[in-house]
Amino acid sequence: MKQKVFVVRDVPKEAVMLLKKEGYALVQGKNIKEEGKGASGLLCFLTSKVDKETMDAIGPQLKIISNMASGLDNIDVSYAKKQNITVTNTPGVLTETVAEHTVALLLSLTRRIVEGDSLMRKKEYKGWSPDLLMGDELKGKTLGIVGHGRIGCRTAEILQKGFGMKIMYYDIDGPAIHEVCGARKYSLRELLGRADVVSLHVPLLATTHHLISKKELNLMKKSAYIINTSRGPVIDEEMLVEALGKKKIAGAGLDVFEKEPKMAKGLSLLDNVVLTPHIGSASRKARVAMAQLAAKNIIRVLKNI
Ligand code: GLV
Repeated sequence: MKQKVFVVRDVPKEAVMLLKKEGYALVQGKNIKEEGKGASGLLCFLTSKVDKETMDAIGPQLKIISNMASGLDNIDVSYAKKQNITVTNTPGVLTETVAEHTVALLLSLTRRIVEGDSLMRKKEYKGWSPDLLMGDELKGKTLGIVGHGRIGCRTAEILQKGFGMKIMYYDIDGPAIHEVCGARKYSLRELLGRADVVSLHVPLLATTHHLISKKELNLMKKSAYIINTSRGPVIDEEMLVEALGKKKIAGAGLDVFEKEPKMAKGLSLLDNVVLTPHIGSASRKARVAMAQLAAKNIIRVLKNI
C-alpha cells in the first residue's frame, strides 16, 4: 500500500512534484488533524502548530514531520522524540536571503527609507534641505550579533566586509564560528551596552523567550538600533514599544512579531520602526530550495536512507 504524505496547502509546487515522483499517496489540505490522519509523513510550515494532539490525531504510523522553516518552535519536538518521530527543518538554504533581509531592514532604518518613501507619496517633498530625514552611517559602528549561527554569521560578514562595521557577538553556546569574521564573544550585557546595532538570530527556545525585555532594552545605547529576523517572542514586544516610544533606543527593524499576525499596541504608530510581515526567507530562490529540502527530508526518512 502506498504511504500517505500530508502536505499543508500552498506548499510550493517543487515539493509536491518531488513527492509525487516517489509515488506517495499525497494529500494537500489545511486541517492536519482531520486530513492528515493515517499519514506517514507531514510537510508543514512554521504556522502549523504540531503539538501532541496533532501527532496523536495523525496516528502512530507517523514517521516524519518536515518543517519548511529553519525554526522548529511550532513543533513539540520532545513529544515527537518520545514517539520516535523524526523532526526536520530546512537550514542552510535560506541563510543568504535572511541575512540580506536583515541588512535591508537595517539600512531602511538608518537611512529612513520608509519615511522618505512615504513623504514622496504624500507629495510632501518641498525640495532639498540640509537636515531632511537625516540618518546614520554604518561604517566604523559596532554590530552586536545575538546568536552566532549561520544567519548571524553571514549577516556579520556582509556588514563587516561590505559596510566596515566592527563585530561582536553573544551566543548561549560556544565556541561559535567566530573565525569567519574574527569576532569576539561577549556577555549579552556587555554586547547590549556597546553595540550600535543589535541583530537577533537565535532560535525560539524556553531560554530565548523574551531574551530582550525591559532590562535588556535599558542596557542599550540611546542611539542604538535593534533588528529582529529570528522569532517574535525573542523580544518582549510591549516593552519594545515602550522603549521606542520613550526614545530609549533609536529604532527597530522587525520582520517577526510576538503574536503573529498581530502586533503589539502602538507599534505601527511609531516612526522609528520598519516593519515587514515575516518575509525574511521570502526570496524565490530560498523558498524553492526550502520546499525541495523539506520534501527530500520526507523521502529520506520514509525510504530509510
Ligand atoms: C522562517 O522564519 C524560517 O524559520 O524559515
